Amino acid sequence: WWKNVEPAAKDPILGVTEAFLADTSPNKVNVGVGAYRDDNGKPVVLNCVREAERRIAGNLNMEYLPMGGSVKMVEETLKLAYGENSELIKYGRIAAVQALSGTGACRVFADFQKRFQPDSQIYIPVPTWSNHHNIWRDAHVPQRTFHYYDPGTKGLDFASLMDDVKNAPDGSFFLLHACAHNPTGVDPTEDQWREISYQFKVKKHFAFFDMAYQGFASGDPERDAKAIRIFIEDGHLIGCAQSYAKNMGLYGQRVGCLSIVCEDELQAVAVKSQLQQIARPMYSNPPIHGALVVSIILTDPDLKSLWLEEVKGMADRIIGMRAALREKLEKMGSVISWEHMTNQVKKIGMFCYSGLTPEQVDRMTNEFHIYMTRNGRISSKLLKNRSKGTLHANKTSDALN
Ligand code: LMR
Repeated sequence: WWKNVEPAAKDPILGVTEAFLADTSPNKVNVGVGAYRDDNGKPVVLNCVREAERRIAGNLNMEYLPMGGSVKMVEETLKLAYGENSELIKYGRIAAVQALSGTGACRVFADFQKRFQPDSQIYIPVPTWSNHHNIWRDAHVPQRTFHYYDPGTKGLDFASLMDDVKNAPDGSFFLLHACAHNPTGVDPTEDQWREISYQFKVKKHFAFFDMAYQGFASGDPERDAKAIRIFIEDGHLIGCAQSYAKNMGLYGQRVGCLSIVCEDELQAVAVKSQLQQIARPMYSNPPIHGALVVSIILTDPDLKSLWLEEVKGMADRIIGMRAALREKLEKMGSVISWEHMTNQVKKIGMFCYSGLTPEQVDRMTNEFHIYMTRNGRISSKLLKNRSKGTLHANKTSDALN
C-alpha cells in the first residue's frame, strides 16, 4: 500500500528538537524551539498553574467539552485580546471557539476562510513562523507574501510593507503577528500599526492576527494587545488566534482560542456554528484540562495577578539573557554589531534573529552542539554558561520523548 511514501522533510523547528534529543554530547544546548527554560535549563511550570492544578485535582470529571470548548475559558480569553470592557464582547459580536493552541486556531481559521471565501488568498509576512505556510497550504488557500523584515537594518521594512498592502487587491486576507514577531522579534511601532490599520481600511483588507506571545513582548498582556485594539478602534472585523503555550507555559496542553469579529450577534452565532462544524470532523472537541487551568487562573483575581507577575518575570528574564549574550560576544571581541539584540524596538519577545547564515548555524550544531533553526533564530530562553553542565534537557521530557 505505501510503497510510494517517501520520508517527509524534517520540520524546521521541531526537527531541531529531534536532532538535539538524539545528540549524546553532555554540552549540547537547544536554542531552537520557542519553549521557555529556567536558569537550570529546566521547563518551567508557573506557580499559578500549579495552584490551579491543585484545585482541579480530584474534582475534574472527564466529560467531553462542547465542540466550541470551554465557554468560560473562551470568555476570559476574549477579554485578554479585546479588553475587559470590550463592547464587542458585550454585544456578542465575536464568534469564538477554544482551539488546539495557536496552531489549531490558525488551522480552523484557514479552513473557514477556504470554505466561505473560496477564491481568497492569504498574504504572509517574509519571514514568518514556518508552520504558517504548512497551515494555509493544507487548507488549500493560495499564499502570497508581503515584505516585513529588512536584513540590512535588522528592522522592519515598513515602506515595502505598506507598498505591498497598497498593491494587494482590495479585500485581501493578511496574516499579521500581533506582537513579538516570530522569528524576527521585530514589531511595528504603535504609530506604524495605526498607519497599517488605516491602509487596511482604505483597501478593505481582512487582518488575521496570530497572537502567540501576548505578554512576552512588553511583559504586560494589555500592552501587547495594542495592535488588535487599534484595529478594533478603527472598526475592522478581524480574526485572531490566541495561545497559552508561551504566556502560561501550557505548551503540551494545547489550549488556545480562535475568534472572529462579526457585524452583529446574529452573524457571530452563525460563524461560531460553522467553526464548530469544522472542528467536529477534525478533532470533535478540544481537551479539557488546560482549558480548566486557564479559566481558574483568569477568574480568580489573586491567581490572575500571580500570573501577570510570572509573565513579566519570564519576559524580563529573556531581555536579560539577550543582554548577557551581547555582552559576552562583545567581550570575546566580536567585530559584528550585536546592538540589534538588545534594542527593544528591533528585538521583542522570545526570539532573536541573529543574522547567522544556514551554513554558520550548521557549524554551530555540528562542531559545538548548539541547536538552532537554520534561519538563524535564537530562542533567548537559555544562554547560561554551558561549562556548569546545567543545560541538559529536562529528564522527564527526555523520558516522554
Ligand atoms: C516555535 O516557533 O518555536 C514555537 O512556536 C513552537 C512551534 O510549534 O514551532
